[in-house]
Amino acid sequence: MRVAVYPGSFDPITNGHLDIIRRASRLYDKVIVGVLNNASKNPVFSADERKEMIDSVTDDIKNVSCDVFSGLLVDFAKQNNASVIIKGLRTVTDFEYEFQMALLNKALDPEYETVFMMTDSKYSYISSSMVKEVAKYHGELDGFVPALIKEKIIKKF
Ligand code: PNS
Repeated sequence: MRVAVYPGSFDPITNGHLDIIRRASRLYDKVIVGVLNNASKNPVFSADERKEMIDSVTDDIKNVSCDVFSGLLVDFAKQNNASVIIKGLRTVTDFEYEFQMALLNKALDPEYETVFMMTDSKYSYISSSMVKEVAKYHGELDGFVPALIKEKIIKKF
């Protein structure tokens, strides 16, 4: 059984994240979305709210589940019997940061492979931070996040 973890802050999940989750679910037997519970990042949504949002928009993908984690990603992967860490790449800037994290994770535990998936070009400019910025000034969020998430963001802001 090939298990992959897809970690992130997901504050909130965007259409770009969802696209990576859907595509990864076709490549692996099981995909576990890992929501980082990191208070130092000052998230807008609590870890439980982020998990709940991910659960509701991935409900139709049977081999996807979601869990909150804190601590090291490699430990979360181990607890879930995963062998692969999935990361989405949008830009060259993403690459530099992700390259460093992949090497660090490999140094921490050589058992794990980080697999990079290219964003679909239509999502290449979407990020959770950008979504929050647009929401703050009451801009239109259609196309950036699923409808259900849009409602939650509007309520929050
Ligand atoms: O969506 P983000 O904020 O870019 O995700 C970052 C994340 C959660 C993948 C990264 O911060 C992470 O893996 N944190 C867990 C702590 C850890 O394992 N650190 C060492 C590798 S960077």
